[in-house]
Amino acid sequence: MRNDIERILIDEEVIHRRLDTMAGEIEREFPPGPLLVIILLKGALVFAADLLRRVPRVLELECLNVASYHGGTESSGTVDFLDRHFPEVKGRHVLLLDDILDTGRTLDAVKRRLLEEGAAGVHTAVLLSKDKARAAEVNADHVGFQIGDEFVVGYGLDYQGKYRNLPCVGVLKTSAIKG
Ligand code: IMP
Ligand code: MG
Repeated sequence: MRNDIERILIDEEVIHRRLDTMAGEIEREFPPGPLLVIILLKGALVFAADLLRRVPRVLELECLNVASYHGGTESSGTVDFLDRHFPEVKGRHVLLLDDILDTGRTLDAVKRRLLEEGAAGVHTAVLLSKDKARAAEVNADHVGFQIGDEFVVGYGLDYQGKYRNLPCVGVLKTSAIKG
């Protein structure tokens, strides 16, 4: 796996230190009381697991399956909700977690849906944010790291379903990307 990586962008220790800070910010931000966390599958799994264990409060977890990339390295432009059931969010304070803010379409679509379904408020946190103009007018409330506009893998992010278990964030060698 490591052999397919051209360059490490953010190593594991740096990510973990940043998560300590983000968890503190999130803990201070929400009013006391039950918090509902929604994890966007599958990309935000690793980020969520490491972040949420640093948040010292009672919370509930839900996962949502959405797709926007369909396995390639370019956004498809549409966001599909793949689950048959949508979590019950009416009146809840929701923390929405995703791996990366790219065009912004995913976070925008999910946030809208949560508000339509009656969530009392939605805060968003992403591990990474790409430094680019967004298609959708959306920004995350908490961003782990700003990165350049390039395709990255690891720490939950995949290329064609692979490299999610890479402990750091890195850029693939061109030889590992299928033309
Ligand atoms: P957006 O809707 O364009 O903001 O895209 C967000 C989704 O696209 C994320 O949840 C990721 O699954 C995927 N994505 C965007 N950029 C990358 C990348 O550099 N590597 C892997 N997945 C990415
Ligand atoms: Mg994803």
